[in-house]
Amino acid sequence: MTTIKRVGILTAGGDAPGLNAVIRGFGKTIIGYHNMELIGFRDGIKGLVENRYVTLDGSALSGILTTGGTMLGTSRDKVHKYMIDGEPHNMIPTVQDNLDRLGVDALVLLGGGGTAKNAKQLMDAGINVISLPKTIDNDIACTDTSFGFATAMEIATEAIDRLHSTAHSHHRIILAEVMGHRAGWLSLGAGIAGGADIILIPEIPYTVDSITATIKARIARGSSFSVVAVAEGARDVTDVADYQAARLLVNAAKTPEALGAAKSHLAHVEDSQREHTFQLARDLEAATGLETRVTILGYVQRGGTPCAEDRLLATRLGSAAADLVTEGQFGVLVAARGQGTEPVPLAEVAGKVKLVPTDHDWIATARKVGTGLGD
Ligand code: F6P
Repeated sequence: MTTIKRVGILTAGGDAPGLNAVIRGFGKTIIGYHNMELIGFRDGIKGLVENRYVTLDGSALSGILTTGGTMLGTSRDKVHKYMIDGEPHNMIPTVQDNLDRLGVDALVLLGGGGTAKNAKQLMDAGINVISLPKTIDNDIACTDTSFGFATAMEIATEAIDRLHSTAHSHHRIILAEVMGHRAGWLSLGAGIAGGADIILIPEIPYTVDSITATIKARIARGSSFSVVAVAEGARDVTDVADYQAARLLVNAAKTPEALGAAKSHLAHVEDSQREHTFQLARDLEAATGLETRVTILGYVQRGGTPCAEDRLLATRLGSAAADLVTEGQFGVLVAARGQGTEPVPLAEVAGKVKLVPTDHDWIATARKVGTGLGD
């Protein structure tokens, strides 16, 4: 087993509240408790490839627990398909050289699904890696949760709370579009916590008729307003069918020409569905006669200070990762499991997405309290 003296850390993918808290938790444990050195690569995979880094000592790690964003910067690059002048390049040999020259024996990557894939590529090339689960989407496989999710859920919940009073005052429908990529965790969690009247998630394709029926039933009961939490990935049944058909064409393409045409058709379908929340607002206004407005919560959900739950999770995960480094356990994601943590082989995580199972307790609960799910 290599004796680890110097470790590198980086943050990759979209930022999320808690990244700095993990850097601090990992750094304080690895430097103060395990007596190793730490450097941080700038801007995710980009800094790793370009050999841009900063030495992290005790003073660099002080005062960052509560700060949003990432002190190291981030990017969304792929290490094995790194884009230079529009062409993909495998930069793993360059990374290996950089790490060797710096004397970095292990690398810790904080990121989501894409980062787990990058980490696996580096692991397959023989580099000692550990990955930590970051995303507001909560869609990383094999971990109960990820840091950033709890904070984003708080922010989205508060927004839904605030939208209630204005929707109520104006007798309007308000659609709050919530992030989450192709998973519904964030809108479902915030929708339940904020008491949204209807919650739309990608895992349950909706119909305008079903949403209209829920809103009309509310009007009949004297509630002339509705707040709808719409996941950015939620789609109506027809859009889902169009998207799946387009994906099938891509998978079935046998020649480069057919693949090119299928990919451009898929891009067209995705483009045409991008404004789906606004289309839904127009449809609901026409169907119910209620004025309908849209609020896109967007990047507000990723910004600012992490909540207490995320700081605690971030510190626990970071510290556990430092312990794994000293034990020589690499090629793993440090998963959150109940009150503890558990190393899970990257091969089990990379390339998988954790969607909301349609029999999940949150879905059953939402239905029992009378929330419409659009189906
Ligand atoms: O993965 C986090 C996330 O905020 C998703 O919810 C969203 O779909 C995506 O990132 C936005 O990505 P970008 O920062 O590249 O616009």
